[in-house]
Amino acid sequence: MAQIRASITGVGGYVPPYILTNDELAKMVDTTDEWIMERIGIKERHILLEEGKATSDMATEAVNQLLEKTNTSPEEVDMLICGVVTPDMQFPATANIICDKAGIKNAFGYDLNAGCSSFLFALITASKFVESGTHKKVIVVGADKMSSIVDYNDRNTSPIFGDGAGAVMLEPDTSGLGLIDSIMHVDGSGRHHLHQIAGGSLRPANFETILRRQHFIYQEGQPVFKAAVANMADVSVRMMERHNITPENLKYLIPHQANMRIIEATARRMGITKENVMLTITKYGNTTSATIPLCLWEYEKELMPGDNIIIATFGAGFAWGSTYIKWAYDGSKVAKQ
Ligand code: UT7
Repeated sequence: MAQIRASITGVGGYVPPYILTNDELAKMVDTTDEWIMERIGIKERHILLEEGKATSDMATEAVNQLLEKTNTSPEEVDMLICGVVTPDMQFPATANIICDKAGIKNAFGYDLNAGCSSFLFALITASKFVESGTHKKVIVVGADKMSSIVDYNDRNTSPIFGDGAGAVMLEPDTSGLGLIDSIMHVDGSGRHHLHQIAGGSLRPANFETILRRQHFIYQEGQPVFKAAVANMADVSVRMMERHNITPENLKYLIPHQANMRIIEATARRMGITKENVMLTITKYGNTTSATIPLCLWEYEKELMPGDNIIIATFGAGFAWGSTYIKWAYDGSKVAKQ
């Protein structure tokens, strides 16, 4: 019997309308457009400003678009996993809230947090349900409202992050296309370099944690940078070697969009040029769980059946990994214009 693989059969995306430019940010913290472009490669990022709107609202926009593009009715969806580090609230899961808002009534689902690798880990987890034959239409969301935990007084972190959401549909495929292989890693000893100090069971919210600004992102940039460069390149090159993928037959690397210098270093180690790298960092910044599906959303029109794609991510945890996908459909027929 032919092997069942999980194929991506559609992509949806959403970024909120407000754009925070580097020049605007330079009025809030001591920074410049030149510094941010040179050290990070971000020009602007989208921010969800609307009062009362959360991660689930952006995710629902992406899911609704996905349902429309794939001609799927909400009742047909049987699972939804949401990769997220900024859930609407500690509980219930944002996946439940998205299902409610999108009218998805016959699915089960949950959130998955693996820092900036959340979407990739959720994709791999979801693929196992499809491969086992138990689930036929599975939505994987990557969504984050990073502006809810960014300290706009901190120049070390505020230029980096943006808000956004993306979603893909996974369905069974027996023609040899789909998710072929994955490599995943975590190393909890790296957790001290990038985390949200308070708000969990270790340091529940109180006046002191608020005064100390411990509900914002805390990052030591350099150790994270070094680990990201080494590990993203390592898993990507290992994936190429495992499947005889060469720079000539790789259509795209989809790297987590954290820093242009990390992306360039990964591409260099893989022997590929920028033409073969999906890039959205300059206009969206680091949307954490949403970077990978937003790349797919932006580049969908370029993708054809059989294209070799490697996704590579690294983030808080530390958590990192890569996935090898053989693309399943002609993206030019359905992509956003
Ligand atoms: O997505 C999750 C994973 N996260 C990442 O992958 C992020 C990895 N880290 C990075 O991307 C980089 O480390 C940062 C972009 C965060 C920082 O870049 P860097 O080149 O490592 O800068 P640095 O932290 O070593 O700081 C160099 C200098 C410092 O000044 P002094 O001490 O040399 O005088 C900083 O205070 O740059 C200063 N600096 C800034 N200057 C202008 C830091 N942020 C800024 C800023 N504008 N926004």
